[in-house]
Amino acid sequence: MTEGTTLLRLARIDYAAPGIHLFDFRHPQGEALPPYAPGAHVDLHLQGDLVRQYSLVDPAGVDAVYRVGIKRDPRSRGGSAAAHERLRVGDLLPVSAPRNHFPLDEAAPHSVFIAGGIGITPVACMVQRLLALGRGFTLHYAVRTRAEAALLDRLGAEGVHLHVDDEAGGRWLDVAAAVAAVPDGAAAYCCGPAPMLDAFEAAARARPSLCWQVERFAPTAEAASAGGFVVRLAASGRCVPVGPGQTILEALRGAGLSVRASCRQGICGTCETGVVAGTPDHRDALLSDDEKRSNKVMMICCSGSLTPELVLDL
Ligand code: FES
Repeated sequence: MTEGTTLLRLARIDYAAPGIHLFDFRHPQGEALPPYAPGAHVDLHLQGDLVRQYSLVDPAGVDAVYRVGIKRDPRSRGGSAAAHERLRVGDLLPVSAPRNHFPLDEAAPHSVFIAGGIGITPVACMVQRLLALGRGFTLHYAVRTRAEAALLDRLGAEGVHLHVDDEAGGRWLDVAAAVAAVPDGAAAYCCGPAPMLDAFEAAARARPSLCWQVERFAPTAEAASAGGFVVRLAASGRCVPVGPGQTILEALRGAGLSVRASCRQGICGTCETGVVAGTPDHRDALLSDDEKRSNKVMMICCSGSLTPELVLDL
């Protein structure tokens, strides 16, 4: 069994929208599962090396289940195809504990969400939590056709603005306008396809006081693999050279060290490692600008070094 995972049983598959199914995972002996906060995801070890991250759709509750929504992507690199074509109710799968790099600020006076397509999955969890707390929110949910709007039954009615491209003459949601309309003091979130996330980030950066977060399912930069630096392990003082064509993760594993990783693309956070000294060359899609500037942590699967030596908390 892969380190850091629990074998869970696929207990149920539900239709949510065309090409989108909800997969319920439960402990085989009915034991409780580690809790999580809205915005969290789990890694599904679908087969062999095939590990994919999927957001939890519903808030943690008395029902001991991890429910993820998976869209069958015609350009699938294997993950969604494996889930839709091979998974059967009753299968046992290694599943990681939940991790959360897209946390909900429950104390914000108002929350504004912009979600596109399957990007609704973490947002649905957040919205349900706010509904339970009785807190206000605005959700701009963009889909290509009305039939593709999954999880609507969980989102309430007030504050939900459904944008259907087909019904708007093929026009996409005006993300810049939605961000410009976010009230001062509100927290803003976006999850969806890359063009939506890029538009959101550009508009959000134009409002320096805005508190915002994005959740990406794809890398935003090439992994740093130029090498030419040394990683020193803070605990032992051991030095591991990182050569051309290598990531830090590959160099450490090549040196016989056991280091945890999952996506190897800078999108899941499994390999997050503390930085003791040196300046990382951040390439991940997870850390905020402030987190990157602080250089306290880095994702060693994809980020490199801007200094000849990096001292890592390993
Ligand atoms: S392994 Fe996923 S961010 Fe590094």
